[in-house]
Amino acid sequence: MRRLLPLGALVLLAGCAGIQSSNGRDGTHGALIGGLFDKFLWTTVVVYLFVMVLLALAIVHGRDNRRGNAGLQGEPPVEAEHGWRSGLTAFAGATTLILAVLAIATWFTDRSLARASANPALEVEVTGNQWWWDVRYKDPVSSYIVHTANELHLPAGRTTRITLKSVDVIHSLWIPNLAGKQDLIPGRKTALELHPLHTGRFRAQCAEFCGMQHAHMALDVSVDDPQAFSTWYAAGLKNPPIPTGGQALAGYLLFQTLQCSSCHNVSGTPASGQIAPDLTHVASRRTIASGTLPANHDGFAAWVQDPQQAKPGNHMPKVPLSPAELAAVTAYLETLR
Ligand code: CUA
Repeated sequence: MRRLLPLGALVLLAGCAGIQSSNGRDGTHGALIGGLFDKFLWTTVVVYLFVMVLLALAIVHGRDNRRGNAGLQGEPPVEAEHGWRSGLTAFAGATTLILAVLAIATWFTDRSLARASANPALEVEVTGNQWWWDVRYKDPVSSYIVHTANELHLPAGRTTRITLKSVDVIHSLWIPNLAGKQDLIPGRKTALELHPLHTGRFRAQCAEFCGMQHAHMALDVSVDDPQAFSTWYAAGLKNPPIPTGGQALAGYLLFQTLQCSSCHNVSGTPASGQIAPDLTHVASRRTIASGTLPANHDGFAAWVQDPQQAKPGNHMPKVPLSPAELAAVTAYLETLR
């Protein structure tokens, strides 16, 4: 048991730091909610300790009384009853006051959250799918829309409004370092505002059980400085070059003729499927399959060879490929930067 205690503490503290921290203060919303959490935590700690001290005093006092044989026999003296009455009135008053202070603090935090959410500089539509995230940066001009999957880039110091929807079941987007959770509900639109305070890389996770691969539904979040964000955005608007020879060209032709192109979109090519993640710049991402594998040669090869191995139950079928074809498709995917 003694050995288990530090282990338990370690598991609890593991949630307090890093790229996926439920105690994250890396966004205005997270920091405001965290500040309110601190107020509640320390108030209740003080109240708890106070009650425990009173309980200890009562136990000691009761024991002394029994030793002195006073016990609980007979009526208590009148002064003692008056003392109890004023004591209880004071306690009721203090409880009401503490609850009122916490309610007022909650109200002020709520107002500050509303202010931080106002006037978003950017709007992104995130759609939940079993089990990946479709990400679309909105713009009135369709050629300025950046479409990606399983990654979210945000400019630091700006407010971004994320509109959320789902095509199948209820999911929940949770970027704990930046803000609280928001559900993605089929047939309904919800929204979540984010205001990252500094640059960094964070991991978001689907926070609503949505089926077999719920745990493999992560979102890679990058907060860039505004300049780097603009560079990333501009790159996202460009089409990747079509291979002109070698394995990559063979892979490109296979990609267009096999069923890949009916599910996946690669801008600037005939592949325009919309039911699976957009692959236009897949090689520039850090992960594929919603954080399941790295977006590199080995990750692509392992995924294409057997998608059901790494993520059983996902909707990508295994396409039978010879080793040469697999190498070609992998080489093509690596060019999608
Ligand atoms: Cu999507 Cu859990």
